[in-house]
Amino acid sequence: MKKELLLWFSKSSVSYPWRGECDPYKVWVSEIMLQQTQAQTVIPYYNKWIEMFPNIKSVAKSDLMDILKQWEGLGYYARARNFHRACKIVQSKFCGKIPNDHNFILLPGVGEYIDAAVRSICFNVPLPVIDANVKRIMSRFLQLPMVNVNDVRIATTYLAQKINKNVPGDFNQSLMDVGRFICKPKTPQCQLCPINKNCLSYKNKTTHLYPYKKQPKVKPRYELSVAVIWKNNKILVSKRKENAMLGGLWEFPGGKLEKNETRKNCVIREVKEELDINIQPYKHVKSIKHSYSHFSIIMHAFHCNLVDGTPQPIGCDQFKWIRKNELSSLPFPKANHKIFDSIPNIQP
Ligand code: ADE
Repeated sequence: MKKELLLWFSKSSVSYPWRGECDPYKVWVSEIMLQQTQAQTVIPYYNKWIEMFPNIKSVAKSDLMDILKQWEGLGYYARARNFHRACKIVQSKFCGKIPNDHNFILLPGVGEYIDAAVRSICFNVPLPVIDANVKRIMSRFLQLPMVNVNDVRIATTYLAQKINKNVPGDFNQSLMDVGRFICKPKTPQCQLCPINKNCLSYKNKTTHLYPYKKQPKVKPRYELSVAVIWKNNKILVSKRKENAMLGGLWEFPGGKLEKNETRKNCVIREVKEELDINIQPYKHVKSIKHSYSHFSIIMHAFHCNLVDGTPQPIGCDQFKWIRKNELSSLPFPKANHKIFDSIPNIQP
């Protein structure tokens, strides 16, 4: 297995900006981004990130808001918050050097995947990487259903024996590449696979049966109303609490509709609860749809007048009045970006 994989890897024309990189900081950044995002999407984010934050120190001394602004659009913002915390710890506790021992996995956001990826690629530690692509390969290769932790354990043990001890990083990356380009979920290109010789599914023509399919979960859909509140041609935006989903990002205040509540009443209630002010929605801005990993939303935005009160940060971390053209200087969730273009520079 390892010989064939490494030969295939050496001939492969796959090129990513983090490939061949041995600076553990840069590999760490790439692996965090790649954990929940497609490689092609990651490339521009990775390049911009390295330009803006070339090392641990630059992250450690930055404001979380600048970190989130740079991460904006990649989603799963806990990754960025954890990385910021982790870099601060590496800077203060390990003099800016990423520890090549059990201390690495103890850092915020570092799990078995990141630990194995970074330490195998940068420090030649023979830890097998188990991501979704590798699970799919091993499910087919060993005819394992891959529906529970025991199957994952069997695959991990198998790979821990097979991994190349001299270049474990290349071994891991070649498997991940095979998963991405060859052992694809729906149309595996078995003829091109460097490890088809020992693949049980290939031998038994059962590739289409592995991994076992789980019933897809129906995503709940939530309906939200948000307010574009105007005063002196400025808009009121609030910052989400740090420990919440999308924590630390800015947004138009608002929230979920309650049962039998109208869209306008919802935004009046939500803004009162979040900022203790009374508003009056007077014009529909736009309604948009957005899909997150576990649910989707339909979000209605309204232009609103401030009726009375002075904002208080009750259900948020902070608030501020900004001009329309300042929206792009703060990190916002993607769903909020979808209404930016429908907001004029001055109050309509
Ligand atoms: N997916 C995540 N990290 C990867 C890497 N280093 N090489 C290939 N695919 C990956």
